[in-house]
Amino acid sequence: MQYVMLTGGAGYIGSHTALALLRAGYQVISFDNYSNSSTAALQRVEQLAGTDLIRISGDIRDEAALSAVFRQYQVSAVVHFAGLKAVGESVAMPLSYYDNNVAGTVTLCRVMREFNVKKLVFSSSATVYGDAKTVPIAETAPRSATNPYGQSKLMIEHILQDLVNAEPDWGITLLRYFNPVGADSSGQIGEDPNGIPNNLMPFISQVAVGKRDKLSIFGNDYPTPDGTGVRDYIHVVDLAAGHLKALQYLETNQGIEAINLGTGTGYSVLDMVKAFSRVNNVEVPYQIAPRRPGDIASCYAMPDKARKLLGWQAEKTLDDMVRDSWRWQSQNPDGYTNS
Ligand code: NAD
Ligand code: WQD
Repeated sequence: MQYVMLTGGAGYIGSHTALALLRAGYQVISFDNYSNSSTAALQRVEQLAGTDLIRISGDIRDEAALSAVFRQYQVSAVVHFAGLKAVGESVAMPLSYYDNNVAGTVTLCRVMREFNVKKLVFSSSATVYGDAKTVPIAETAPRSATNPYGQSKLMIEHILQDLVNAEPDWGITLLRYFNPVGADSSGQIGEDPNGIPNNLMPFISQVAVGKRDKLSIFGNDYPTPDGTGVRDYIHVVDLAAGHLKALQYLETNQGIEAINLGTGTGYSVLDMVKAFSRVNNVEVPYQIAPRRPGDIASCYAMPDKARKLLGWQAEKTLDDMVRDSWRWQSQNPDGYTNS
């Protein structure tokens, strides 16, 4: 039997991808150290799929633990989500970010090579475009980083490119996600941030459910239609489907490709707040606050390459995103904590 291994499979995007893979008939291994997740997410994935996956508690920096998995199971491909992702924290704790993200990826690739597993789907990010000069952003746009988190993603992209240059029989896709939001439509799995959310959608959801007083909108003087920041929000279920397409692509293709996963449409912070209130019929009190350091005005994808290469495009609407985010938050006000 062949398995797809998901590093970070218990996390927000990993759990949705695990569900999509199980539903498509894949055998799935989740390899996660639960530093930012819990096994509850995987239990719910199994319930939703009506089938089990293999759950392994381990750290991608632990070569022996990874080797044990590859020895025991025949792994055909790896989808590599594991890593740390909070921009602010990365500025305060750069070594943790380089260790988990960069060193962890190098260790993973070393073990994969040892077991002759050379298909890898990597979670990159639109953050590698830095403050892009023009939007929509194509994959060929210049890359730069403004914080250690972004730097770690950029370094990994370079490392994986060098690996393919040296060993052309690898097949690697660098999936550059834009802003993932939403949840499975069951409301059973979703994003469960620790502490105060950094990202917009979980913050809006927590305000709506009464856990926080009001949203601070970081700046209304950007050169955008309403002055608030514009982003390419993408439904996590669409994102998960993109990983299936990337795995299928790697069945017949070698080499390395960077591919944007976004909708191609930008929405402002105010668009998001208004859509959330309208669709879910809940109040989202907000105040205008100063700009957040490091934020950019506008960021959205040119999504054409994903369509051409993978046959993938985002299908969910803005209303789906805010409805599904709210279903998850309102059914699980404390996330997975009490499950
Ligand atoms: P997440 O934190 O929910 O998931 C990451 C998972 O990796 C967690 O379950 C965590 O416990 C695990 N993990 C972390 N370090 C590990 C290690 N050393 N060994 C084993 N497991 C480890 O985050 P997510 O939102 O699901 O993001 C998944 C990936 O996508 C990350 O690499 C992230 O950088 C990238 N990404 C996320 C976003 C976003 O906004 N959510 C955007 C672009 C890219
Ligand atoms: C979106 C918009 C904020 C919170 C980050 C990472 C990026 C990627 C995705 C991983 C911006 C505004 C936010 C709030 C607000 N992650 N906002 N009030 O900054 O586009 O991207 O997550 O790769 O690397 O940098 O996402 O959700 O933080 O912000 O007004 O309380 O919402 O200013 O315009 P961002 P975000």
